[in-house]
Amino acid sequence: KTASAAPSDGLAVLEHKRSTAETFGIPLAVLAELTHRCPLQCPYCSNPIELDRASSELTTEEWKKVLSELAEIGVLQIHFSGGEPTARKDLVELVQHATDVGLYSNLITSAVLLNREKLSALADAGLCHVQISFQGNEPIVADRVAGLKNAHEKKLEVAKWTRELDLPLTVNAVMHRQNLHQLPDIIQMAVDLDADRLEVANVQYYGWALKNRAALMPTLEQIEETSRIVDEAATRLKGILAIDYVVPDYYALRPKKCMGGWGRQFFNISPAGKVLPCHAAESITGLDFESVRSNHSIAWIWQNSEAFNRYRGTGWMPEPCKSCEFREIDFGGCRCQAFALTGDAGNTDPACTLSPMHEKIFKDAEREAAAHQDRFLYRNFAGGTLETEGEHGA
Ligand code: SF4
Ligand code: FES
Repeated sequence: KTASAAPSDGLAVLEHKRSTAETFGIPLAVLAELTHRCPLQCPYCSNPIELDRASSELTTEEWKKVLSELAEIGVLQIHFSGGEPTARKDLVELVQHATDVGLYSNLITSAVLLNREKLSALADAGLCHVQISFQGNEPIVADRVAGLKNAHEKKLEVAKWTRELDLPLTVNAVMHRQNLHQLPDIIQMAVDLDADRLEVANVQYYGWALKNRAALMPTLEQIEETSRIVDEAATRLKGILAIDYVVPDYYALRPKKCMGGWGRQFFNISPAGKVLPCHAAESITGLDFESVRSNHSIAWIWQNSEAFNRYRGTGWMPEPCKSCEFREIDFGGCRCQAFALTGDAGNTDPACTLSPMHEKIFKDAEREAAAHQDRFLYRNFAGGTLETEGEHGA
């Protein structure tokens, strides 16, 4: 069954029309990817293979207009992300504008481009929360994964400044076969940094990360041990550190409810202004995404655009999802993963044990993890991307 095929029997057609015609309330939170430029070279980068160039990025004035529009239509939180959002020189101005229009702002950063003065200016502009990614708990592993010397020390420094400025802090630890052994120390590092929250996020294999799957895939034993460590720490640190745990898809029994369901709770704005159901959506070929530069309002794009409605609800589903009792719980899993692994975003996510592809991907994962191929293919942003300034001076 292809992604665009509508259900053939009458009842299913009716259901399809009903679910796609429903008006979906505007989400409370939106991810603003200010730029794809980034000083790190993480092999697990989930951004698309084709990145937006600096010259195509929305200008300061365009982003301000977007922020105002988001606030007007009822969005409450804006997550400034990238790439590396601090690569934009107008970040303080954008945070100030978010504050002025009443948005709660979160900065999702690798931290390596920040100094204390800049962080302090962001706090003064009303920044509400900081999330810093960590690649390990010490420089040897962490800097190797990030592909940048001294990155880990810089992150520790910025995390300390964050708390000194009284900003809430989330530590985001991206985990895989080559750093899972550090998890107990990463949990302690988050406690020592006085973080409020730790995200233990196993790598998801979209975009660039898929190229490095064999080097990153954990073993089943590692995942069982990770679950045990997370459970123990969550109980021990109750009231001190909240821990979120993202299980690796390939070893799961059922898929994650990706993005809370396609076009249900979330959208993303790309550096060039495309409104996307998720940050990896552009990896799905055959879908056209509307831009904030078009004549349509963001609310119209969310409710009416073809890309949002294609996989919204349950009407698009093939079997086994179509008649599955979990179809309104996980909404068939992740469209980007279904596309990456089956070539059709309209298929059941192979992370699901009921998918005919599940057995194969589980076996692939086990085989790749056992092969111990540890060499990374780094995401290389060379070619002047960091140095190339957008016309608007970002
Ligand atoms: Fe979810 Fe589809 Fe699997 Fe059912 S068959 S659990 S709806 S992915
Ligand atoms: Fe795109 Fe899951 S990452 S739907």
